[in-house]
Amino acid sequence: MKIKIENTAPEAAITLAQMISNQVRLKANSTIGLATGRTMNAVYYNLIEKTKQNPLDFENVSAFAIDEYIGLEKGDPNSYASYLDLHVFNHLNFKKENIHIPNVFAKDLDLASFEYEQKIKECNGLDLVILGIGLNGHIGLNEPGSAEDSRTRVVALTQSTRNSNKSVMGKKQVPLTAITMGIGTILSAKKCVLLATGETKAEIIQKLVNGDISSKIPASALKQHKDFELILDKDAAKLI
Ligand code: GLP
Repeated sequence: MKIKIENTAPEAAITLAQMISNQVRLKANSTIGLATGRTMNAVYYNLIEKTKQNPLDFENVSAFAIDEYIGLEKGDPNSYASYLDLHVFNHLNFKKENIHIPNVFAKDLDLASFEYEQKIKECNGLDLVILGIGLNGHIGLNEPGSAEDSRTRVVALTQSTRNSNKSVMGKKQVPLTAITMGIGTILSAKKCVLLATGETKAEIIQKLVNGDISSKIPASALKQHKDFELILDKDAAKLI
């Protein structure tokens, strides 16, 4: 595990945006797993700004959302599909057919999860996965107890995650379930990068960095990955 600590959250976001653009410059047909969440807003903003100044072609890049809520209507602004449209896809020249979101509207959600894994394989696997972290250590929506070899599947959200995601849901209830890439799916990526910023993440980052690998902290599985980078700001790093 490599740890990079930047002074501020905006600087940490710029570092990650730079890593995404480097990946695309290096390999024009990269396959990238994209996280959602408040932490990522500044990353995608910077990626878009950077692309305006120094054009970057996303035409052959394949994007896979890490997760998606089950139970929201198509186009619901709270869905992760809408988040990624708003923060990423509406601004960069991704081809529609290269954008992949778990099909939470399928009749058979297990089959849809299996098909998502197949799609990743068809794209020759993930080159890079961008992750945030939940207050309980979740990555994607792999909650504590998730198996290290878990693949894309339907999961139940913990109350802690539902509470924490409430503030971005408006008046709506946070869904009870979602489809998420598994920990095994994430670990199969060539490179994994996790960004955590702000004091609220300091405690979980301390557990992640100083603790053992344990399913109690799903993100800790990343420590066994040979190319895992943790990007932090000083606030998130203050307990390590
Ligand atoms: C959400 C998302 C994760 C995200 C995490 C942290 O539940 N499913 O992908 O990394 O929680 O979110 P935030 O960046 O808003 O703290």
